[in-house]
Amino acid sequence: MVGPVKHLQLVVRRIDEPVPGVRRLWLADREDWRLPSFRIGAHIDLHLGRHLVRTYSLCNDPQDDRQYVVAVKKEEHSRGGSQYIHETLQAGDVIGVSVPRSGLELSSTLTNVFIAGGIGVTPFISAIRSLERDERENYILYWSSLGPPSLIDMLQPAFSAGRVQLYDTRREDPPHLGSILKQYEDNAKVFCCGPGGMLDAFENLVADWPDDRKHIERFVAPKFVPDANAHRYRVVLAKSGREKEVLPEVGLLATLESMDADIIVSCGGGICGACRTPWSEGPAIHHDRVLTPREREREVCVCVADCSGARLVLDI
Ligand code: FES
Repeated sequence: MVGPVKHLQLVVRRIDEPVPGVRRLWLADREDWRLPSFRIGAHIDLHLGRHLVRTYSLCNDPQDDRQYVVAVKKEEHSRGGSQYIHETLQAGDVIGVSVPRSGLELSSTLTNVFIAGGIGVTPFISAIRSLERDERENYILYWSSLGPPSLIDMLQPAFSAGRVQLYDTRREDPPHLGSILKQYEDNAKVFCCGPGGMLDAFENLVADWPDDRKHIERFVAPKFVPDANAHRYRVVLAKSGREKEVLPEVGLLATLESMDADIIVSCGGGICGACRTPWSEGPAIHHDRVLTPREREREVCVCVADCSGARLVLDI
């Protein structure tokens, strides 16, 4: 039996640099076939080399079914992905790309408000474009400390309609997040993505808001703290029957890597979903910020998971 397609082979059709330090990639099928559809705010994994998989948000409109567009900032302390994209990847190269997954849940009744810092605007662009196309109200507050905000060309309809508020934080103080949120506390769903400090502040300020009125999109996984009470268990790979003991001090991910298990790891911290894997016996203990309660009944993000039973059986 042929298994599901794990990733596509796409060609890098075009690369540009809309502002210094940000590279934007257009990925397409080599023969221009339609690509698997995606939801607004969906992610794809780029396979940039052996064990170098990185996850990025799709920026183009989901109606655009012949290409995937991502934007990548050059990180000073790159873990390898942004450096590869900025220094090695060329137009014409063919790379592995996952099928898109996840996406943003917009409110259908409230105003959707997007608060973005720097490259943190990328997960919201497809949502904003689609809301603008459907003539639905939305507001974007976008601040940048690196000169002109990147990707503003992709927000042109919202910009022309006066729905984008830009703040150049090289010249002015960043706006007061608390006052902004006060304004939207009863009448909006608010999305936030940007540097860690901004997200932490946002998370604190909306701590009491209902879950369906806030969304935080993180690029950098919070440091994973292993559970001090974790116990030993066996991880079993159902397809090959291979198994190994997972020691608390080693953890599940390192154990799977030592078994050369067929898993994909990108963030390594439970925020991207690249490593989601079906499980059938456990139960698994979930520490990710990706899966819904329903998805957790059958899948687990193995980079941050544990098991409360004697065996964790993964269907790989
Ligand atoms: S690798 Fe990102 S959630 Fe596991």
